[in-house]
Amino acid sequence: MAGAGALTAAALNNAANSAGAAETPGTATGSVAPGGAVTPTTTPTSPNEPKLAPRFGDGRDWWFQKRFGLFVHWGLYAIHGLHEQEQWRYRVPRAEYVKLAAQWNPVKFNPDTWLDLAESAGMKYICLTTKHHDGFCLWDTKLTSYNTMNTPYGKDIVGMLAEACHKRNFPLCLYYSIADWHQPNYPNQGRHHELPPQPGDQPDLAKYIEFLRGQVRELCANYGEIHGFWWDMNVDQHVDPSINAMIRQLQPKAVINDRGYDKGDFGTPEREYDKGGEELPSFEKRTEACNSVGSESWGYRALEDYYSDRHLLRSIDKYLARDANYLLNVGPRGDGTLAPEAVAILRRIGTWYGAVKEALEGTRPASHLTSNRNVLLTRRDNTRGTTLYVHLHKDAVGEAVKLKPLTIAPRRATLLNTGKPVDFSLEMAPSDHVEQKGYLRLRNLPVNEMANTVLVVKLEFDQLPDSITSPNAVGSSDINRR
Ligand code: GLC
Repeated sequence: MAGAGALTAAALNNAANSAGAAETPGTATGSVAPGGAVTPTTTPTSPNEPKLAPRFGDGRDWWFQKRFGLFVHWGLYAIHGLHEQEQWRYRVPRAEYVKLAAQWNPVKFNPDTWLDLAESAGMKYICLTTKHHDGFCLWDTKLTSYNTMNTPYGKDIVGMLAEACHKRNFPLCLYYSIADWHQPNYPNQGRHHELPPQPGDQPDLAKYIEFLRGQVRELCANYGEIHGFWWDMNVDQHVDPSINAMIRQLQPKAVINDRGYDKGDFGTPEREYDKGGEELPSFEKRTEACNSVGSESWGYRALEDYYSDRHLLRSIDKYLARDANYLLNVGPRGDGTLAPEAVAILRRIGTWYGAVKEALEGTRPASHLTSNRNVLLTRRDNTRGTTLYVHLHKDAVGEAVKLKPLTIAPRRATLLNTGKPVDFSLEMAPSDHVEQKGYLRLRNLPVNEMANTVLVVKLEFDQLPDSITSPNAVGSSDINRR
């Protein structure tokens, strides 16, 4: 089997090396191809460079090129617009909740509308909840009647989305909840994300896993190419690598997350709980952060508390700039449309993303080049020199950004958000009197006027010597050069 569970660390490193070996460090591998990003080589250009997460070296590497995805939580819970866990959090008896199936009729669902919006936000893949904890299935499953075919709608939603995705080569990933509040064999025991035991239950984990295996097989066999499998809520923490092995056999390009029956391919920090990792210049493990457009729910919530643009853009930027992926969620309404607030958020994200994407696509993390921890750096090397991108992903303390220990002037500095030139200086600032050196300083940034976004400055250098990583190695002749 080719499952990550079976891969040793050495094998992963080999995969990483072979993925990088085809490309030459320091060449034009980072340029943005029209309509898509390019994976930078994983070979470090200098020994101090942050390590990148290991590449797979196989068909799953699409995931490193298409960093930004749309997560969609959709199911019966959208009808009331409370929360995707309405049944559990609002203590709705199972016999009541299942009645929602008779109201499931999302006549305005048009997968192309979702995909158009995702694309305009800069997103490059989609992940849909095929079955959330409530157990209601969005596809034509033969293993339970609790599915979209037995509703007034009567259409196979996974099938419709898959067809639309395949038409435009948009990778489709499938979310599947292990916890199940409907299937009688699932051992609901009142643990977290579980109902208390229900009348009529026949708890039997082995039988449940057989059911689940059959459903996963349907999902992986009946809808063409699937690019990812996103497990959730393995409450039992049961281990069984044969399930991911089956997915890998049926869908070799599928990346699998770490919430299933083995460690999978990548980690899934949620709503920024992984705060410890925040200061890392790069994620050395494969990571896909996930978040929703609002703070209370993943499914549609009529009274949702939406995040600010500033919060979301910072969050997106700080993962994408550090070799991680980002999955941003929306919860469509019961009729299949997205709430206008969510649409507006995605549109604003798209405006930002469209302006700064060259700093995120096909670049590599380079924050090691400065000691300034208020910014993140990404870089791209090509035959014309080195481009550094300075990401202001935190509250700007002031209108200047000092990039100590850099003492080299760029050929050009541009604020990607506006396309306007950025002032810079190498003049020694009073605060640098101890070193008696001037460091590269970006000046007069519009931090007040544009406080609600993430500013990204592009710095084009003819060449960036490796010696800049060592603060003492830069000659004084660089000082005061503009
Ligand atoms: C949390 C929520 C769950 C949601 C998931 C997405 O685990 O409890 O409802 O599906 O996040 O990552």
